[in-house]
Amino acid sequence: MSDTAGGRYPSHPPIPPQVPQTSPRRTMLMSPAMVVIGGLLAFFTVVFSVVILPIETYKPPASDNWLPITDKAHDGRAVFLANGCVYCHSGFSRPQDVYEALYYTYPRASEPGDFHSVAESPNVLGTARTGPDLSQEGGQHPDTWHLSHYDNPRSTTPLSIMPRFNFLSKDELDALIAYNQSRGGKDGTLRNAAIRVGNQLMRLNMSMKVEPDKPITAMIDRLKASGAYHEGGKPSDKSPSGLPWMAVWMINSFERGYWMMKDPLDVTKQNLIRGKSIYLQRCSGCHGAKGNGAGPGADDLTISPFVFNQDLTKKPMTSSGMFYHRILTGGPGTAMENFGTRLSVEDIWRVVLFLRTIPNGGLEEDLPTVAMYEPWTPPPPLKNYVETHPIGDQVTDKVDPTDPFMMAARWIAPGMTSSDEILIGGAIPMTLDRLSRLVRADYMKMIDDAYADAKARGEDLPKLASLHSTKGLVFHAP
Ligand code: HEC
Ligand code: HEC
Repeated sequence: MSDTAGGRYPSHPPIPPQVPQTSPRRTMLMSPAMVVIGGLLAFFTVVFSVVILPIETYKPPASDNWLPITDKAHDGRAVFLANGCVYCHSGFSRPQDVYEALYYTYPRASEPGDFHSVAESPNVLGTARTGPDLSQEGGQHPDTWHLSHYDNPRSTTPLSIMPRFNFLSKDELDALIAYNQSRGGKDGTLRNAAIRVGNQLMRLNMSMKVEPDKPITAMIDRLKASGAYHEGGKPSDKSPSGLPWMAVWMINSFERGYWMMKDPLDVTKQNLIRGKSIYLQRCSGCHGAKGNGAGPGADDLTISPFVFNQDLTKKPMTSSGMFYHRILTGGPGTAMENFGTRLSVEDIWRVVLFLRTIPNGGLEEDLPTVAMYEPWTPPPPLKNYVETHPIGDQVTDKVDPTDPFMMAARWIAPGMTSSDEILIGGAIPMTLDRLSRLVRADYMKMIDDAYADAKARGEDLPKLASLHSTKGLVFHAP
């Protein structure tokens, strides 16, 4: 076809005169050297103002909660960094985390002055929370729980995605645990002192040794010297109520309101099946797939998990209420965890219902049945004890809620009142007041040890008296 389609309508405008296709070559205004220098300058200005300036000028004073750390904890920090723990565990809790995190409670929000020590510089703040934040980890669990958890996190926490650290040496593990227990400053150390005292009492009750250099050994020596010690006593010796002393101590580790409490939920197949699935998911790692207290997580524990495949119908400490309280709040000084933040009230009761089917095959058969459930009846000595120690005594009891050491003692023995005296191991007279003094002594000793180590490392430290000060100290239960 021709360009002009019949000569009347041009199909496109006439082609303009040729324009040059390239513009004249221009040279760069900046020389390459200028680009490099300018780029570096911009980069280092940012580094200077964002990194160097704050590090050099922002030196917050130690917070009221800050404490130095021991040499052992300092070594543990190196193990922590070398093994990449910081990639999954942050080291600062935020205000919005406090008591609100999904499955883990942070008792306090971190403050700038919490990271004061040169031994802790650079801070292990991290960013990722693949696992829980560990800034408040001190005293959340006893040392043996940590051992078990490093050996295989799935034993203590069946659904955990944390890798195993069973290749670490004993020294590395000890150091790592010391570091964990040091975190959370004064509050964490107080919690740690409380679980240590709780653990020592359990050991004494089970005729196990406690370490010689502990405040509790000094207290026992003082009691012996004053003649208050019940020489030759045994945990099995009967208390005036007719209960063995061991049982008296154990039931006083449950709040009085729970001693005789019955199941509020009906024993139905649905409830039992739900209870069983919770048990298998969260409890079998320690209490065992057979309920015999010998799950894989129990290997490293000095105080063994409770055995459920035994007669649960008439023992002093096997009421449903006591089971409930233990699962809700954990065991003071033992590896028994506090599930109150992870399980609903109904689910805890469902697992309690299920526990009572274990002696009759609840774990052996695929599905637990209502017929397997056996109720509890209080043994007469317990009834006698409960009648002579009514709940009212505890309600009207005046313990000072502002005394953190007394609050720790109350956590260890939530069933005791300030007028009770209980023989530990059948021999050592224990009162709430003595318990609180034990916690205090253990706490102060830990501070002194950390201070001495930090001083020997040549750190610039505040006065020991300010570290001993209990201003702002709060006991947050694990
Ligand atoms: C891949 C990520 C990951 C790594 C790496 C990791 N963890 Fe964990 N950690 C977790 C998760 C997830 C949990 C929560 C489940 C559990 O308790 O196992 C957890 C839980 C914990 C807890 C229990 C906190 C509590 O009080 O319940 C401690 C302590 C802990 N880790 C310490 C460590 C240490 C120390 C290391 C390094 C040796 C480490 N973790 C490495 C993911 C990790
Ligand atoms: C990390 C190990 C561990 C895990 C996980 C664990 N327990 Fe325990 N549990 C223990 C230990 C150790 C004891 C014994 C010391 C004590 O009574 O405090 C115990 C004691 C108990 C008791 C007290 C019995 C009594 O009357 O004295 C109950 C009830 C109990 N556990 C239920 C559970 C349930 C339910 C779960 C799961 C939701 C669970 N435990 C998970 C270690 C564990």
